[in-house]
Amino acid sequence: VMSRYKITFQPMNITVEADASAPEPAHDGKPGSILAIADAHDIDIDHACGGVCACSTCHVIIKEGVNSLHAAEDDEEDMLDNAPGLTLDSRLACQAVADGSCDIVVEIPSWNRNEVSEEH
Ligand code: FES
Repeated sequence: VMSRYKITFQPMNITVEADASAPEPAHDGKPGSILAIADAHDIDIDHACGGVCACSTCHVIIKEGVNSLHAAEDDEEDMLDNAPGLTLDSRLACQAVADGSCDIVVEIPSWNRNEVSEEH
């Protein structure tokens, strides 16, 4: 069983390493969550509720390795139902924690990217 894995964020195509046996501490969201790892590497994923599973702004799409994520709990499923652009491989970044059994690729939907850095 692997515990170290790579997580690639798209569309920026940034790959970072994570270790499921030493979950990334989180200000927002579950330790070791996709949001926690993104935050630790200055990758912006919107997270309006502060990572407590009370919004769906942290919606991400798992392009590869979805089976290595711990299953969504009911409250995550309920929130995801309200997420725009929902797909079968959608998760909430603040809730989704990988077990490290394979590398994962995560797409941040365009509406969740930091708008401050874009032209408006
Ligand atoms: Fe609100 Fe993830 S930040 S549900």
